[in-house]
Amino acid sequence: MCGIVGYVGPSADSRALDVVMEGLARLEYRGYDSAGVALVTEDGVSSEKRAGKLGNLRAALEEQPLPDASTAIGHTRWATHGAPTDENAHPHHGGEDGKLALIHNGIIENFHALKNELLADGVVFRSETDTEVAAQLLARAYDDTADLTLAMLQVVARLEGAFTLLAVHADAPGVVVGARRNSPLVVGIGEGENFLGSDVAAFIGHTREAVELGQDEVVTITPDSATIVRFDGTPTEGKAYHVDWDAAAAEKGGYPTFMQKEIHEQPHAVQDTLLGRTDDEGRLVLDELRISEDDLRQVTKIVIVACGTAAYAGMVAKYALEHWTRIPCEVELAHEFRYRDPVIDGHTLVVSISQSGETMDTLMAVKHAGDLGAHTLSICNTHGSTIPRESDAVLYTHAGPEIAVASTKAFLAQITACYLLGLYLAQLRGGTYADEAQSVMKELAEVPEKIQRVIDSMGRVREIARFMADTRSVLFLGRHVGYPVALEGALKLKELAYIHAEGFAAGELKHGPIALIEPGQPVFIVVPSPSSEHGLHGKVVSNIQEIRARGARTLVIAEEGDEAVVPFADEIIRVPATSALLAPLVTTVPLQVFAAELATAKGLDVDQPRNLAKSVTVE
Ligand code: M6R
Repeated sequence: MCGIVGYVGPSADSRALDVVMEGLARLEYRGYDSAGVALVTEDGVSSEKRAGKLGNLRAALEEQPLPDASTAIGHTRWATHGAPTDENAHPHHGGEDGKLALIHNGIIENFHALKNELLADGVVFRSETDTEVAAQLLARAYDDTADLTLAMLQVVARLEGAFTLLAVHADAPGVVVGARRNSPLVVGIGEGENFLGSDVAAFIGHTREAVELGQDEVVTITPDSATIVRFDGTPTEGKAYHVDWDAAAAEKGGYPTFMQKEIHEQPHAVQDTLLGRTDDEGRLVLDELRISEDDLRQVTKIVIVACGTAAYAGMVAKYALEHWTRIPCEVELAHEFRYRDPVIDGHTLVVSISQSGETMDTLMAVKHAGDLGAHTLSICNTHGSTIPRESDAVLYTHAGPEIAVASTKAFLAQITACYLLGLYLAQLRGGTYADEAQSVMKELAEVPEKIQRVIDSMGRVREIARFMADTRSVLFLGRHVGYPVALEGALKLKELAYIHAEGFAAGELKHGPIALIEPGQPVFIVVPSPSSEHGLHGKVVSNIQEIRARGARTLVIAEEGDEAVVPFADEIIRVPATSALLAPLVTTVPLQVFAAELATAKGLDVDQPRNLAKSVTVE
């Protein structure tokens, strides 16, 4: 969603525009539909903004260069109020003289009332955005206070909703003021220069020292200082931390797309998520959990809330959590959970799963769960993001930055973290599976190498994908943990290749979806291990026979050595044997590779599919 960058350098410096443009390029992965910058120059505040990709803004800046400056803000916008046009792009200027410029991420919910008040006072608006209301209010507050920080404090007191705001004023050179509520903002600490960003990627090329800004806080940066106050005006200090990945990690590393790079990083994502989770005796230790062992022992129900791919990770988790812990587990889309009346109490553990930690639907579900008295635990990939901060406890995945809009390595890391949680709870509560935790951990330790083997054997999958570039519809079937894998395979194809794709539980086939099968219809089938309980393998093999008999083209993902599928498969994609519950860590990979390759063959932008944002920070 919107990307925000702020920079203040030494006064003799004129790099501000370059720093901000570089930051915006690094934040492109968040998704956007227009971009703009504002610079504080000797002559006032100059800005430029354009609808479309950053290239449009760059071209405009080349045609009409802005004066040198050492202070700048930059923005990539994902439209909410008002179409993605030049006028609605940020920054927005405030005041009759336009001396103030402001950028915004989020939604100001009470903007209508505020706008009417300003209109009645004769203010003329140039855009349809909620943001311009904040710009006009801030310009007025600055006229009263002549202090940008004080003015910001006055304005945020009047705003409702979610927002990160950054502002500069012509009469306050060398200063950028930011504010955040329910929306991300981090501070980058340099030497004689300081930065603000939606996330650390915005300034990672310049510094790896960062400060986490708390909820409802205002930060003022100058070249030599970063000062933080709460919305009530009391001074505070953010939490300083060192970013343990560098600029290279946020770039493509030699791969043609971020998504391909991230698919190849999956063995590491799983391995790193497993790192440091056991003590000398092999017992699981989850230091980050801030919920007491007693409270966790008393949990009677687990509810997983998430969206999109993260929700599919939750569906995989349900099978594992219930099996290992015997605690009933529900999985619910966060936006559905939030607006019903869920039956939860102080013995419910609500687990949110989110790569970005900023998904507004998931955040609202977490807050709702907290209000209802549940314990909230976040599984998240992004340090310092909002959802873990709003949760009682956090279990971080260590997948590294995920830049491509389509989630890949974060999915496998989320599933891995869910396994850790399940095994930890099983160990804590005793029972049948407490003793098995160590053997499952041993098997998990071998999984990264198995994922690598799958990645290394994807030649035929790529060929199939290229061959199928003109396909109009693909179906995906799975059973047990293979069902969410089928859903994830379909989601990947929809979002990347814009092809009609649907995932089904294989057992559901005969209840309706089998009517879709006609000669030539491609169907991926995620086959359970022959060692699965309850004869599931045989049942899925029967499903393959049923659809093949009706003309389906069967693309079968099956374990090495599974010969039963051979007579009914048009194509067999082999994956290494794993125990049934861990299989999604290997069976998902061919479906990711297939979707990426097919989209590439269609000439589509794999990293930034149309209409999608990496981080969905509005409900
Ligand atoms: O950052 P989150 O994990 O909370 O994001 C949730 C979904 O928006 C995300 O997984 C989305 O479905 C991806 N584009 C799927 O590839």
